[in-house]
Amino acid sequence: MPTTVPKLLVFSASLRDGSYNQQLAALAARRLQAMGAMVTELNLADYPLPLYNGNLEAGGVLPAEALALHAQLRQHDGVLIASPEYNASVPPLLVNALDWVSRVGSDGGMAAAFGRPVFALAAASPGGFGGYRGLVALRQLLELGLFARVLPGMVSVPVAHEAFDQAGELVNSKTSELLRQVLAGLIAATSQGRPA
Ligand SMILES: Cc1cc2nc3c(=O)[nH]c(=O)nc-3n(C[C@H](O)[C@H](O)[C@H](O)COP(=O)(O)O)c2cc1C
Repeated sequence: MPTTVPKLLVFSASLRDGSYNQQLAALAARRLQAMGAMVTELNLADYPLPLYNGNLEAGGVLPAEALALHAQLRQHDGVLIASPEYNASVPPLLVNALDWVSRVGSDGGMAAAFGRPVFALAAASPGGFGGYRGLVALRQLLELGLFARVLPGMVSVPVAHEAFDQAGELVNSKTSELLRQVLAGLIAATSQGRPA
């Protein structure tokens, strides 16, 4: 089966200046590029969406940003999300974005945005769990709610305020290796014989 160059989308679920998850997403993007993938780095700040409210959808018209995000997801073979953990769950920025995209019925609807790409999950937190509990909640949302395929391996970066060196690399070799494994898994899952 021919190997294709995977098209991967990478974004973080934090808008905060100095965000650890933005740093993690940037590192993942650099590494994926070095591993041969074609990487798109997306910033959710460029997709400002109102808080989901059924009244906004009642006229059948969705925000242009929801359609644009849907297009980004369906145009990629794989997606790496670096997400903070908020109260052991998924931050509202990400839930809201996924909720809006799930309402897009055109261009293949949910199946195209969530069924086609393979998802890999990462998190960084100043806390000791590294945001892992939030990733479990995100996995549930993606798998049960959106019928997405989420890779089994997930990487969490604890004590994130001390985790990155000046070059943006991970200081801890075990965490760095875990990230390498997750990224290699994403490349492997999106390289072999997938439709162009
Ligand atoms: C509302 C809220 C809830 C939070 N809950 C958790 C939590 O459950 N577990 C955790 O490890 N950190 C939690 N944090 C701390 C975040 O991990 C921390 O703010 C982190 O820096 C956010 O990610 P960022 O650096 O990418 O913005 C919470 C932060 C906020 C604002």
